[in-house]
Amino acid sequence: TGTRRLTLSKKKETVRNMDTDRKELIKKAFQAQKRAYAPYSGFEVGAALLAGDGSVYGGCNIENASYGACNCAERTAFFRAVYEGKKDFNAIAIVGKQKNADGYDYCPPCGICRQVMAEFCDPEKFEIILAKSEEEYRRYKLKELLPLSFTGKDMGEDR
Ligand code: THU
Repeated sequence: TGTRRLTLSKKKETVRNMDTDRKELIKKAFQAQKRAYAPYSGFEVGAALLAGDGSVYGGCNIENASYGACNCAERTAFFRAVYEGKKDFNAIAIVGKQKNADGYDYCPPCGICRQVMAEFCDPEKFEIILAKSEEEYRRYKLKELLPLSFTGKDMGEDR
């Protein structure tokens, strides 16, 4: 709603502003969830990915009659952002629930999505926000959710 850029950056923002940014990011994840295409599982997921420049990319899960072709909300957000030229990310908010369920539980990202995060994000800094609502959420660092990750560094890439 406001014009202030979301960053979650400690240098520029006060802790209070960072909490506001998290709420805003969660709100965008709920908006993204409305785009979920999940006729097979009925499990609808939304994600909002915050890039280093303050831009936010929403993503939803996109299922397929050939189940292996399903794409998670998190990867939809990442692939949209990378296509737009972004490769630096601060955080992602994730929400998900079964279509007809009353309330939300935390929806942790699957292993493939964690691996995609590891390709682009600093494991010590990238924040994964699992939310039940704008008020009720848990925060994790990528390193906690994907320890000992395999990345380009393990292949001798100098990145
Ligand atoms: N899904 C996501 O989009 N993200 C997650 O974090 C967990 C799983 C999707 C994939 C599939 O469309 C449905 O949820 C059930 O697995």
